[in-house]
Amino acid sequence: MFACRRYGRPRRCIFYIFAFVISQLVFILILLRNESYDDLLASGQLHRNNDSGKNYLDWSEFISHRRKGLEVYYQYNLHLSDTLGVIRKLPSTRHCSCDSRPRNLPPPSSCNVSVVISFHNEARSMLLRTIVSLLSRTPKEYLHELIIVDDGSEDVTLLDDLRRWMDVFLGTRDRLGLIFLVNQERMGLIWSRNRGALLASGHHVLFLDSHCEVNEGWLEPLLERLAQDPNLAVSPILDPIDPKTLSYRRGNEMLKGGFDWSLHFHWLRRRLANQELPEMPYKSPAFAGGVLMMSRDWFLKLGGFNAYLKIWGGESIELAIKLWLCGGQIEIVPCSRIGHIFRRRHAFDFPPHLDDHQLSSAQETYLHNSKIIAESWLDEYKSMFYALRPAARRIPLAHTYDEMRQLRGEWQCHPFEWYLRHVSPELRMHFDELAATGTLRNEDRCLHATHKDSDLILVSCHLSDITQWRMLRSSGQLSTQRELCLGVAIGRRIALAPCGRNGTARMAQQWLRRGTHLLHAETHLCLDNPLKDRLELSPCRSQAVSQSFQFALEMESRT
Ligand SMILES: *[C@@H]1O[C@H](CO)[C@@H](O)[C@H](O)[C@H]1NC(C)=O
Ligand SMILES: *[C@@H]1O[C@H](CO)[C@@H](O)[C@H](O)[C@H]1NC(C)=O
Ligand SMILES: *[C@@H]1O[C@H](CO)[C@@H](O)[C@H](O)[C@H]1NC(C)=O
Repeated sequence: MFACRRYGRPRRCIFYIFAFVISQLVFILILLRNESYDDLLASGQLHRNNDSGKNYLDWSEFISHRRKGLEVYYQYNLHLSDTLGVIRKLPSTRHCSCDSRPRNLPPPSSCNVSVVISFHNEARSMLLRTIVSLLSRTPKEYLHELIIVDDGSEDVTLLDDLRRWMDVFLGTRDRLGLIFLVNQERMGLIWSRNRGALLASGHHVLFLDSHCEVNEGWLEPLLERLAQDPNLAVSPILDPIDPKTLSYRRGNEMLKGGFDWSLHFHWLRRRLANQELPEMPYKSPAFAGGVLMMSRDWFLKLGGFNAYLKIWGGESIELAIKLWLCGGQIEIVPCSRIGHIFRRRHAFDFPPHLDDHQLSSAQETYLHNSKIIAESWLDEYKSMFYALRPAARRIPLAHTYDEMRQLRGEWQCHPFEWYLRHVSPELRMHFDELAATGTLRNEDRCLHATHKDSDLILVSCHLSDITQWRMLRSSGQLSTQRELCLGVAIGRRIALAPCGRNGTARMAQQWLRRGTHLLHAETHLCLDNPLKDRLELSPCRSQAVSQSFQFALEMESRT
């Protein structure tokens, strides 16, 4: 500051300070990076190439051979990923008590791990960082093998390059088995993971995504749980890595995995029992993401991921239901942390389907898979699924689900009712509180709330994203999936408004079922569609067809 005043040139001075700070930052960055390389070298995980005297790590060479034009697939900051280096220090995100707890691990010969990483069009730098973080932060003796499945990527030389790179990288390290598999044609995540698990020879199998960075000490807490209960399947907490900035944040251990009656994944709030601490392992109705580990034998006995499911979607929900009903459990272990990039939409295309113009092929694949789950596991509750996803009825299944029923018999699996009672009270509550659900039909049209402005219109019931209504038993509210409720506004106009939580707000949104009529409780008038395209309230007439509204699924006999 003294210098600044003397020269009387504050702007230039600020520039110097700025330049100085930047150069320091760059320096620190280089230092940090070297440090992590050195850590690896010291621990014997990396090897110098003694021929050239160069650091063997020709990472830039490896990533420069990638195929161009695949950037659209990645949906994360490729440039940043390419410049981050092969490994970086990650913040410690787990509770501090996780570090100090003594671990009671069985010997590696009885609980080692085969890691299966399957990918389709992953950026080279991202894949490499996943692998290197895994190799450098996993105790050698417990890592039995690494199985890498290239599921028909367009970068056709990637696997060969990777094989060569890993040869140098691993040097004389023994013990680690390496298996590289290629699907010449895209088979999808489900088949790829099954293929990897079939070839695995470790005690446990871990399925890892190809855009992850494992954090320090991730494996031990998982192994410890599996040693205590061999029928368990465990997941780490996935710490989100931002797709734009690749910054690493702390994942939330107060959430569980679950799903709704459309068989879509949902986060559920975890409630702590008496004396339960947030960092303790906890039960979850479904996996919270695609990273999971379990005994290989147990996985194969359960038939692995259901091979009738196509490409991607629903497989981890299916495995979760299967596990719980047939004698297993799912736990999330907060002391285990793995960074993961959550992308906003499917990073890859689904094969096109030409015969259906209403659903995109991704939706159709998802619906196909959901239908198999509903048919093989949901018992009588599958009517809930069909009520909410009517388009699923039209989807043909190539196979019957007899095999699944047979497995359920052989294994004496519980009925789905048991899952509702013991595993997911949330899903059950959702069922119990419904009086009716699904599309709301008047003659040949269905009531639809537009996505843009929530306008109410009457349209063809076959619209693919037609509004699914829920009539709540206790409050009489009629709500959409976006928590908007049908109510009566000024001038007796029928309109949607956020579902009210208090008495007054609820009153204007309360409806009563009278036969197939919907009676507005406050005004004692009936919902009517006299002109075939507009809703209004009018005095109830028991025979009026324009006042008859049917839900796809009625849960109780009407009064
Ligand atoms: C490189 O190192 C390996 C073992 O570390 C050794 O066997 C080999 O002879 C070395 N090669 C050269 C050219 O020094
Ligand atoms: C890993 O586990 C498998 C199966 O339990 C066993 O056959 C194998 O010997 C183990 N590997 C090591 C290196 O202990
Ligand atoms: C009830 O909720 C509505 C909005 O849903 C709000 O405008 C109103 O003030 C609330 N009334 C009371 C008594 O809290």
